[in-house]
Amino acid sequence: MKKTILTGLRPTGNLHLGHLFGAGQNYIKMQNDYEFFLEIADVQALTDNFNNPEKVRKNVSELTIDLLSIGLDPEKVNFFIQSKIPEIAELTVFYSNLVTVARLERNPTVKTEIAQKKELFGNNGESITYGFLGYPVSQAADITAFNGEVIPVGEDQLPLLEQCREIVRKFNSIYGETLKEPQAILSDTKRVKGLDGNDKMGKSLGNAIFLNDSEEVIKKKIMGAVTDSNKIKKDDPANPDICMVYYYHNLVNKNENKEKICRECKKGERGCVQCKKELMEAMNNFLQPIKEKRKYYEEHPEIVKEILDKGTKKAKEKAETQMKNVKKAMKIDY
Ligand code: TRP
Repeated sequence: MKKTILTGLRPTGNLHLGHLFGAGQNYIKMQNDYEFFLEIADVQALTDNFNNPEKVRKNVSELTIDLLSIGLDPEKVNFFIQSKIPEIAELTVFYSNLVTVARLERNPTVKTEIAQKKELFGNNGESITYGFLGYPVSQAADITAFNGEVIPVGEDQLPLLEQCREIVRKFNSIYGETLKEPQAILSDTKRVKGLDGNDKMGKSLGNAIFLNDSEEVIKKKIMGAVTDSNKIKKDDPANPDICMVYYYHNLVNKNENKEKICRECKKGERGCVQCKKELMEAMNNFLQPIKEKRKYYEEHPEIVKEILDKGTKKAKEKAETQMKNVKKAMKIDY
């Protein structure tokens, strides 16, 4: 029997190259070997965006379309919407007794996010809601509602997985062996640098190329990408190793001989403007099949809805079975 993979993504924006080369390509590999549940975590997105429901709503289909466009197969992956599985909310309430407030406040992921909020809002964390502090509990419910065994996540999520495992152990020790302890596996094995040379491409860092960026936007972004600042004139020799244009050539350019680009750059035989133009073309070629698929799904919203309905139905069945086990163990199976 195939093991169950469960992972979630917050519908708060479109995917960019960092998502594609990090998590996305790993999901594509894994979809063949596991029973795959992919949660569009709208409820979790609302913990940070409760005052912006339009944004979350819009991004549920945007995110689903992005994931389909990069090559996740709806025959293999069950895409589902978190809020359509009320069992998750129910489990969250039950689990909330099994974790202390102090433990949540000590969770490194939560701690970092609280620090970021303090920096943004500067009010000593008074804006921290109960829902935000408790989202690791809700995430434990996301995972265990489906008996998720393998959980592909980014490094920043490891403390949340540890929190989930603790809740599972606590539950099992009080109510009897019921829940499976999930294993995290790192999904963003390849980190993609930003246009500004930052080690990480990120939406909030403003240094990302999104999979659905128009050619016009891509042109502007590549024109502004960081290059070797010591190169002033077209025929100055430069160092490609610190140039983002060369970095992205390596990532997406399938046609050009990268060694040639490197050699020419080092010798001062390659101007940055020309190099950027070539990269734009390569980037557009690289993104074209993804954009074609996106266009297809944009023109057929009924197919996207059908995919979400089908996956959600499968997820719901699994969660209902699990809920029965949980209620029985907790002696609330009236
Ligand atoms: N917290 C995750 C993130 O921000 C998203 C997520 C929600 C998730 N539910 C999950 C990840 C369950 C793994 C398992 O990336």
